Amino acid sequence: MPAIYAKAPGKIILFGEHAVVYGQPAIAIPVNKVSATARVLPKISGGKNQVRIKASDVQLDTALSDLDKNHPIAVAIQQVLNAIELDQLPSLTLMISSTIPIAAGMGSSAAITIAIIRALTDFLGKPLTTEAISALAFEVEKIHHGTPSGIDNQVIAHQKPMLYSPGKPIEQLIIREPTHWVIADSGEESPTKSTVADVRKLHAQDPESYDQVFEKIGQITLKARPALIAGDTGTLGQLMLENQYFLEQLAVSSPKLEKLISAAVSAGAIGAKLSGGGRGGNMIALAPSEKTQPIEAALLAAGATRVITTTLIKKGRD
Ligand code: MEV
Repeated sequence: MPAIYAKAPGKIILFGEHAVVYGQPAIAIPVNKVSATARVLPKISGGKNQVRIKASDVQLDTALSDLDKNHPIAVAIQQVLNAIELDQLPSLTLMISSTIPIAAGMGSSAAITIAIIRALTDFLGKPLTTEAISALAFEVEKIHHGTPSGIDNQVIAHQKPMLYSPGKPIEQLIIREPTHWVIADSGEESPTKSTVADVRKLHAQDPESYDQVFEKIGQITLKARPALIAGDTGTLGQLMLENQYFLEQLAVSSPKLEKLISAAVSAGAIGAKLSGGGRGGNMIALAPSEKTQPIEAALLAAGATRVITTTLIKKGRD
């Protein structure tokens, strides 16, 4: 049996992070320049249930039986076994690698989980629907992130730009005009679990005021939807700055992120904001097509540890 290989992209949130945890809509796009991969190699001569997990990026090389049952990889595998009603895996080696920055708001955990689920279910001859893969990944996301909204697993499983509202069917965005986005890593970690938990504490102290902030962010996201589809960069840029203002009210910004946002805008970005959990991690800038390079250079000069430019291309429904 040949090795089976599955890949899942990173993601970036354009509008609506944090508010989406409270039921508001958010917009996210896949980022194909970074990805997670999972490879399944059958062990022909191994006995039953000899499963080895290798993830050299995080120095993991272990038998599955030695992995804590609550480890996200063990949980992802258990989710697969439950979904396809299998007691145990045949002997195999599961190799995992990723170029998606960890704890940076680019969906590294969801992408790794989805790559694992796809590779294993394909290997076992039981491929699942995209929606089923996303639902299994959501269960693993809860271990990573506490109370996630589900946006990461949805955008990464479907690999499409989308408007996502918890509990509602996803809405794929059919882009009519391309837009260019520069993503910059602040180099500071952004553990989504703790930023989401901190926002929850704020909300518990004053639910009425914070519900209003979430609603304002939700309104910004809904205004951004037609602007993104039409490539109306002026409107998008303004909405990004407004969204950033409300993220600052949620105390998830940071001096470094704000320095990067100012640097991008001074270099010609039409708008910029933090993206993902915040406190660190990434910010994103909307760039005129001829300005992507100067904006990248300005972000690096302002201390970004990595920049990735991605173009949201015109695409029909598929
Ligand atoms: C994390 O990528 C985005 C947050 O809104 C959390 C979530 O939606 O689960 C901060």
